[in-house]
Amino acid sequence: MNPVIDALKFRHACKKFDPKKKISSGQLDTILEAACLSPTSFGMEAWKFLVLASHDIRQRLRPACWGQPQVTDASHLVVILAKPSLIDPSKQYVLDSFLRRELPEDLTKAYVEKYRSHMETEVFPRMNAYAWCSKQCYIGLANMMTTAASMGIDSCPMEGFEKDRVEAILDIDTKQFEVAVLMALGYRAGEQTPRRRHSIGQLVEFR
Ligand SMILES: Cc1cc2nc3c(=O)[nH]c(=O)nc-3n(C[C@H](O)[C@H](O)[C@H](O)COP(=O)(O)O)c2cc1C
Repeated sequence: MNPVIDALKFRHACKKFDPKKKISSGQLDTILEAACLSPTSFGMEAWKFLVLASHDIRQRLRPACWGQPQVTDASHLVVILAKPSLIDPSKQYVLDSFLRRELPEDLTKAYVEKYRSHMETEVFPRMNAYAWCSKQCYIGLANMMTTAASMGIDSCPMEGFEKDRVEAILDIDTKQFEVAVLMALGYRAGEQTPRRRHSIGQLVEFR
């Protein structure tokens, strides 16, 4: 009765993709648009989406991803990159991000100060810039998977990889970017594993 819930029910972590089935560039654009429309804390958008269609690159990558077949058998592999180098409160990028709001100068300054104080008191004592950016990357990941599912396209989110090796194989400039998470996209091959979930009653509490 709800198209988003229908998509969420269709989505599963696809373990076995049909290597012969490819998704179209139009569908891929729609999925990537969902990522770019996703929210980020303070609107920082400290991320990038690297799309791997090449079978050769993915063949080289697979051993660094626990040998998982999704890497090569999916239609595409999206490497979601965090950009932790951008989000230090002293960076011009941060000021430019707030300037996009076209607010009066004193309000822009107040936003930058709020951001600096939040990052220094709440974020950096608990996690580094890579972890904070990665949290945002997972929102983009979720929206891409749901959008893909709404078009009957399967996906698999993947944390099962060796980050340093993957970055080396993809020749990532790690002063700027770090791999947060991967996502395989394509079409399922045959039966998949049944969904297992705790009940809503176990997971939701109202006060
Ligand atoms: C951040 C993240 C990383 C994951 N990494 C992998 C992975 O490397 N390989 C894999 O096969 N599944 C991976 N999964 C899939 C989970 O195992 C799966 O979502 C979970 O078992 C629930 O199954 P379902 O998504 O089919 O409902 C990952 C899921 C998430 C959210």
